[in-house]
Amino acid sequence: MKVETSLRLTRRVESIRPSPTLAISRTLAEMRRQGRDVVDLGVGEPDFPTPDFVKQAGIRAIEGDRTRYTDTPGEISLREAIAAKFRKRGAAVDSSRVAVSAGGKQTLFNACQVLFQEGDEVLFFSPYWVSFPEMVRLAGATPVIAPARAENAFRPTLEDLRPFATEKSRGLILNSPNNPTGAAIEEGELAKILAWARDRGLFVLYDECYEFFLYGGRPHASPTDLWAEHSEHVLISGAASKTYAMTGWRLGWGVGPKAVIAAMSAYQSHSTSNASSISQEAALAALTEVERADESVRKMLAEYAVRRDRIVSALNAVGGVRCPPPDGAFYAFADVSALYPRAGVSGSVEFSKLLLERAAVATIPGAAFGEDRYIRFSFAAAREEIEKGVRLFQEFASSL
Ligand SMILES: Cc1ncc(COP(=O)(O)O)c(C=O)c1O
Repeated sequence: MKVETSLRLTRRVESIRPSPTLAISRTLAEMRRQGRDVVDLGVGEPDFPTPDFVKQAGIRAIEGDRTRYTDTPGEISLREAIAAKFRKRGAAVDSSRVAVSAGGKQTLFNACQVLFQEGDEVLFFSPYWVSFPEMVRLAGATPVIAPARAENAFRPTLEDLRPFATEKSRGLILNSPNNPTGAAIEEGELAKILAWARDRGLFVLYDECYEFFLYGGRPHASPTDLWAEHSEHVLISGAASKTYAMTGWRLGWGVGPKAVIAAMSAYQSHSTSNASSISQEAALAALTEVERADESVRKMLAEYAVRRDRIVSALNAVGGVRCPPPDGAFYAFADVSALYPRAGVSGSVEFSKLLLERAAVATIPGAAFGEDRYIRFSFAAAREEIEKGVRLFQEFASSL
């Protein structure tokens, strides 16, 4: 009898594309191993610590032995608190419409798994968050990318989306404020897109994990503003990760139609079960101790706003670089393609690599987000690091 011993990976995982950031992270790791001082403007997470009152709630959870399984979609107290947050924004949501997960990523992944399948097309705009295409593919569906226009500050519009819809379109993923561009959707445009999606039978995943990080007093447009018309074909994904500087705690939520929430919960019950019980207690404090939470968000936003102005003006001062000020999030997305010929590179991956090797500044190549003319600088880094990073970038650019 012949025994099959060779290793075989599934078609499903073979369809995952290696991240274009892999070469960068390898070089970065190697440089650090060699003891080189690298300015990391690649990371996409707040450099702030988790607020103290949130940490204390986590510590109390451990000491009070809140360390057991919880309901798969989350403790009822946390689901109630999330539902209350949505009601405050005018959306009629109760706890049966809420599922807690281990981060925004898991919410979106679960949603793709229960909503999309082979033969379906799922639309989203480029530049897009790196995981959208892979999540759609892992659900067996086909990603369909609608380029948002740089002339329009990469803000999503129905006009740019409409030509990409086909008979097979089944879903739409929107992310506002956007990673990597910071672009925030306009309220009127969101209303048009949601109505169009509903009329075409598209389910909408709305990723608002940067909801509190908008500059110049810009309001956050959300399907919650139009909930009565759209509550049955929209799932909103939110997270504690960026808002409360809790990336490592792994805590997010989805709010949507009951049937979708129940399916996501069933799916999660056979993979990771509940989000960490300790993280749930910490998130409960963040969501219910509103004054303290608001104060901490206000402080972070004020600091990001200073860094944003500084990095955008420094980048625009470099000849050949164009960096529009982002509406929100904490990324500066800069068109550096005019420097490619002088740098002797053909795209953003090679450019980012050269910048890292020569100037010891880590960034993320735009190719990772479907826009090869740009690179992403994160300003979720300390001011001194940003100052140093832009100075080294300026020197690098003038040396080309
Ligand atoms: C647009 C976007 N969505 C979702 C996530 C996932 O966040 P979480 O850490 O909550 O899983 C990120 C994280 O970088 C993001 O940028």
